Amino acid sequence: MNELAGIRWGSAVAAYQVEGGVRSGGRVESIWDTFTARPGAITRGDTGEVACRVYEDPAKLLDTVAWLGLDTFRLSVAWARVVDAEGRVNEEGVAYYRRVLEGLRGLGVRPVVTLYHWDLPQWLQDRGGWSTLETATAFVAFARVVVERLGDLVDDWITINEPFCAAFHGHLSGLHAPGLTDEATALRAAFVQMHAHALAVPVLRELAPSGRVGFAINLSDLAPAGDRPEDLAAWARADLVENRLFVDPLLHGRVPADAEGYFGGAALAAALDGIDVATLAPRVDFVGVNYYEHNVVRADEPGTDPVVRGIDKLPVPEPRSGHGVAVHPAGLTRVLLRVAEAAPGVPIWVTENGIGLWDYVGPDGACRDVERVAYLDAHARAVGDAIAAGAPVEAYFFWSLMDSFEWAQGYQLRYGLFFTDYPTGRVAPKLSADRYRALIAENRASA
Ligand code: NOJ
Repeated sequence: MNELAGIRWGSAVAAYQVEGGVRSGGRVESIWDTFTARPGAITRGDTGEVACRVYEDPAKLLDTVAWLGLDTFRLSVAWARVVDAEGRVNEEGVAYYRRVLEGLRGLGVRPVVTLYHWDLPQWLQDRGGWSTLETATAFVAFARVVVERLGDLVDDWITINEPFCAAFHGHLSGLHAPGLTDEATALRAAFVQMHAHALAVPVLRELAPSGRVGFAINLSDLAPAGDRPEDLAAWARADLVENRLFVDPLLHGRVPADAEGYFGGAALAAALDGIDVATLAPRVDFVGVNYYEHNVVRADEPGTDPVVRGIDKLPVPEPRSGHGVAVHPAGLTRVLLRVAEAAPGVPIWVTENGIGLWDYVGPDGACRDVERVAYLDAHARAVGDAIAAGAPVEAYFFWSLMDSFEWAQGYQLRYGLFFTDYPTGRVAPKLSADRYRALIAENRASA
């Protein structure tokens, strides 16, 4: 039996990574505009100013989606394009997203809109960003505008994307905007984002009753380096910060029991100030899982991980991604089964999965990304294995549609099915795009 036959196939992008046009059409500044201007923050000083020029030419996005034959497509709406500090709606920004969404619907593709994919307006950061509850209130007002103005064109909603990265890379490792390095602030940012999600869900339900609502969290597949008690403890710490800190509140409305011991009572109390944890798990229509990471963890003092204290992640064997991340499809199966167990009966969507490589175009003009082809095949099989073992996976979104601004790594690391030639803005299918198109067609035929 073909377990993959019934699922919806998609791909995804995020606004700041592809749009460019950061000063066009009435968009205000976001924390990524400010952060990328900081010397040394981003490899080679890259910024999202031009990116893939999708704002100027949305046809590029629509043509590539059509070429692949996708069922569904996930994009984010830039908060800074839609409302300003006075709460005024930017009609030009709304019109842009309507054009894109109408284009997708015209192709028969089901749009999934992410409301927060890391590009907080700078005016909110100036007032405290994700460390204050006002940002959650502002998020709900933004969500209301988006659903009122775009809701007729959107099927599915993702409130927040990878709150772990926005919290811990934005506020502890300093690798992401706003570039802060304080653990207590990072913990606060994690809970305020989850609070924003919980406040937005009823608004989305009220204004888009037929829409489906969920969140997207990145989950890591982790293993201890051995059975020494200190390695087991290191593994539990990594699992706490990277996984359970988000799974437990969002699915069960509770804080993991070991969070207080790790973060300290005062930091945890401050992070939860004004937030009732029991409310953080409103019913969702799907759980979105972004899967990239498998790591073997051992204890070390002070440790080398930029986020989790007292751990090292062991170097991984080949095959690896371009920046040394393990290619470990079995981890995707495990992560999906873990979510299926944590949220019995709730549909699961793989809202992101993909590999960063140093892709290049050969003399014949083709990008033969054979590692990505192998990655895609193996991870599609891993999804099939999870379904066979009982995980209710409904959709799979390959990250990403095209090479784009890869945050701290700028434009060097490429994730796309389509190769972006940045100087000209042209995009061309890689070998992996051919493979994904065939895989979608095969599974549709056998459905
Ligand atoms: C997760 C993020 O959501 C996305 O924006 C990023 O490009 C990919 N991971 C790859 O790092």
